[in-house]
Amino acid sequence: MLFEEYINFNYQFPEPQYLGAKYTHLSWINNFIPKNVKTVLDAFSGSQSVAFLFKQLGFKTITNDYLNFNNQIGLALIENNGTKLTNEDLDILLKPSKQKADFELIENIYTNVFFEKSEAQFLDNFRANISLLNNTFKQALAYTVINRSMTRKITMGHFGHTQALVYANDPERIKRNRSLVRPIKDIFEDILPKYNNAVFDNKQENKSFNKNILDLIPTIRNIDLAYFDPPYCDSHADYQGFYHLLETYTEYWKDKEFINGIKRYEPQRYSGFDKKRDVISSFDKLFELSDDIPHWLISYNNRSYPGVEEFGKIISKYREVKIETKTYHYGRGGKGSVAGSQEILFVCTPKKKHFISQNKGNHISDERF
Ligand SMILES: C[S@@+](CC[C@H](N)C(=O)[O-])C[C@H]1O[C@@H](n2cnc3c(N)ncnc32)[C@H](O)[C@@H]1O
Repeated sequence: MLFEEYINFNYQFPEPQYLGAKYTHLSWINNFIPKNVKTVLDAFSGSQSVAFLFKQLGFKTITNDYLNFNNQIGLALIENNGTKLTNEDLDILLKPSKQKADFELIENIYTNVFFEKSEAQFLDNFRANISLLNNTFKQALAYTVINRSMTRKITMGHFGHTQALVYANDPERIKRNRSLVRPIKDIFEDILPKYNNAVFDNKQENKSFNKNILDLIPTIRNIDLAYFDPPYCDSHADYQGFYHLLETYTEYWKDKEFINGIKRYEPQRYSGFDKKRDVISSFDKLFELSDDIPHWLISYNNRSYPGVEEFGKIISKYREVKIETKTYHYGRGGKGSVAGSQEILFVCTPKKKHFISQNKGNHISDERF
């Protein structure tokens, strides 16, 4: 490791609370990153924990998630090489908004669902003020930290249940987790320094995208390594069900319906990787489109559809594959992390292809990569 990369490891990724985050597996994944890669893609980046590792390793890091609240983390911590939120910015974010009438979505939809009225009003006011910050990275940091504050406040850190206010009034739960009764503003001010301190410059032009990966891949070139961590289909794949509120807050939808007890938005974004009926053809498409990217690392779990063996066969149409496994002994670590289930990494390298050179009619046999 170069000296500058050691310095990058002085920066700490703020602990995420996101289903399937690879935060606790980073040093294991790091063992399988091939040597001599320079530009890398984190294709399904979620909390951005793997993209952050790539940035620390000094790679030019391209990161992507089709949910915008995750893209905001990518802008704030991966693409952003130096901008932080200052006390003056905080004053802007917390002052009473003049646009109150246009910012009542959280109060109208989520009062008494996830928040009491005053907290919902605080969130709307803060959201109105984000657009007053004059810089994309500052705005991204504001979204990142307020969204994380919301997951701290809600039991289990997701919005796929309707027990938030019940739990927030349960003394036993409050004893275990004080955040349930803390004002969101306090949580925000408490965790903001962790995010500011995680902003650093790895001397590369990193980039965060907010696209369906099948639309993004054809537009990017010269990637040496792609990391694919798709939703584990059939086992906690419904990211829009769990985190709908963060997407609604970030997008501040004007054109959606809010349905069911949890008031998730409808229609949802199309993934292609979260439903059994789509997933196999989506993988085939993804792998075909990724043909120019020599190395792939693919995270998987032994409880997903298709099963490990079948998935391995799909990958082996395109790449040489080695399967690495890490067994969970405890029930912690995110999506699918029940004790006994396995975190799997498909380590994929180029197939040795032979081709006939067109040059001067000479027939040359060579390795493609
Ligand atoms: C297993 S999580 C990734 C976790 C991430 N590696 C981490 O450490 O936090 C899968 C992610 O894929 C995203 N996703 C699902 N379908 C997608 C698509 N078609 N294109 C891009 N991202 C997608 C989800 O929003 C989710 O964040």
